[in-house]
Amino acid sequence: MIYRVDEDTLRKAAELLCAGELVAVPTETVYGLGGDAFNAGALAKIFDVKKRPRFDPLIVHIAETGTLERLGDLSLLEKANREKAALLTGRFWPGPLTLVLPRRPEVPALVSSGLPTVALRFPSHPAAQKLISYSTGAVAAPSANSFGRLSPTRPEHVEADLGGSIAMILDGGPCRIGVESTVLDLTGELPRILRPGGLPREEIEALIGKTAQTPREGEQGARLSPGMLKSHYAPRTTLILHSGKEMAELPFRQNEAYLFFDRTSMESWLAGVFPAQNLRAGEGIFYLSENGDTVEAAGRFFGILHHVDGLGKTRIHAEEAPPEGLGAAINDRLIRAAA
Ligand code: TXA
Ligand code: MG
Repeated sequence: MIYRVDEDTLRKAAELLCAGELVAVPTETVYGLGGDAFNAGALAKIFDVKKRPRFDPLIVHIAETGTLERLGDLSLLEKANREKAALLTGRFWPGPLTLVLPRRPEVPALVSSGLPTVALRFPSHPAAQKLISYSTGAVAAPSANSFGRLSPTRPEHVEADLGGSIAMILDGGPCRIGVESTVLDLTGELPRILRPGGLPREEIEALIGKTAQTPREGEQGARLSPGMLKSHYAPRTTLILHSGKEMAELPFRQNEAYLFFDRTSMESWLAGVFPAQNLRAGEGIFYLSENGDTVEAAGRFFGILHHVDGLGKTRIHAEEAPPEGLGAAINDRLIRAAA
């Protein structure tokens, strides 16, 4: 059931969390499937409801920077990284940045799939913050979708996928950022982005300097983030990823869908394939951004993919985003969706 966020529903949701139940919670990135991070039963439920393998660790959400010290042990970091952690939380929390830190023994190992680390995030969505502080102060929440499926950016996406198996879905509106948080590991020598996300690499590096390259699947280091499986964020419809040039040359087929990065590339393609007609995006032809803005494109990304996936087309052709800013996060998800 979907409940509008207000003081009453937040209190009710917090009670459910304290009782070990699961609640879908809006954040600025995507909707999360929340459970008390200190309750092993609730954690087990999260894995079961999502059908998520137990080797794929969860992010713990907090609502005060100070809670970080209760869950993560900064004293085990190299001094330089301890300083970087302070800079990062000072500048980017609350917000779409998850930090991987050494885990304190009080945090159940199940949260981290037995890893010696824990991933922490302080979301900026006010409903998430209230829910966390009204409950236990530490809420484990993966994206509220079945394992490997598209992430939810609206409460209806959660309902359609997991509605039958969770106690409550809080409706906090559409997610502002639209792609998951950037996961940054501070436990190595150099900070390493394990998952590109809602905070661009450029902004992180402007604050703390160079980060290590994200390992590719199968490369050494890839196992550090066991959740980064190749096929992920997948629509049911086959998705094919194209460069802008390839996309421009595709023929139109009625039973296929076309997802352009921006309006200009869609319009020039339409002018080419329908030269005799007026420019018009027919059903199954979409663009992510009006003016080639990666922030706008990220905000619309999952919503459009959910919609296109429901059209019953045989294939989705998607154009890659420019690699800068949130384009990196969009391309990461497109690559996984196409795998
Ligand atoms: O924006 C987000 O991060 C959303 C919202 C709900 O906050 N959450 C989210 O969670 O995307 P999830 O479970 O879908 O993705 C968590 C990612 C996975 O790739 C997982 O492998 C990685 O974070 N992760 C979690 N704990 C980790 C750890 N201790 N070490 C390395 N990677 C970790
Ligand atoms: Mg996810």
